[in-house]
Amino acid sequence: MSKNTKQFVMDILDIRRRARQHMEQGALTKTYGCDRDMVVGLLNAALATEVVCVLRYKRHYYMAQGIHSQSIRDEFREHAEEELQHVGWLAERIIELGGEPDFSPHGIADRAHSEYAEGTNLIDMIEEDLVAERIAIDSYRSMIQYIGDGDSSSRRVLERILEVEEEHAEDLVSLLRQRQSFKTDILPKTG
Ligand SMILES: [Fe+2]
Ligand SMILES: [Fe+2]
Repeated sequence: MSKNTKQFVMDILDIRRRARQHMEQGALTKTYGCDRDMVVGLLNAALATEVVCVLRYKRHYYMAQGIHSQSIRDEFREHAEEELQHVGWLAERIIELGGEPDFSPHGIADRAHSEYAEGTNLIDMIEEDLVAERIAIDSYRSMIQYIGDGDSSSRRVLERILEVEEEHAEDLVSLLRQRQSFKTDILPKTG
């Protein structure tokens, strides 16, 4: 047996021994390379961001009216559904880390990185959504950099979400490029 193979076998024996210690911590083992509480906090901030995005897209979906807006409404609905899926991915990862997903409505807007902007017409709505996506993109990218190789599973969850947010931003930009065709679609007066 070569020296390297011998070392690897010794490591495996050590890994096996450690796996039996602190079994109550589940997926969280000694080789976890991040500050667990910090990562749970970041994932909860991402979760709050996603909840705010679901609410904003839902509002935009229901409020968007006008002859040119069906395709835009479809886009809002699809984005809302995908943001909700992100909420689920984040909550599941927080549980795996032994944390608790924070769904409390109190302070959710403060915990979120993006903003809840209502928008008064379709252009406003799309622009506000684009701003929120760009904030989410930057904040997830910095979370990914912070986590690095210390927690590859949490990093992958954020990377999957980031990829979708980038697609959302691209969808919104292409809608804005068509703005000339629907800039007169003002929302109906309410109240
Ligand atoms: Fe999202
Ligand atoms: Fe998004």
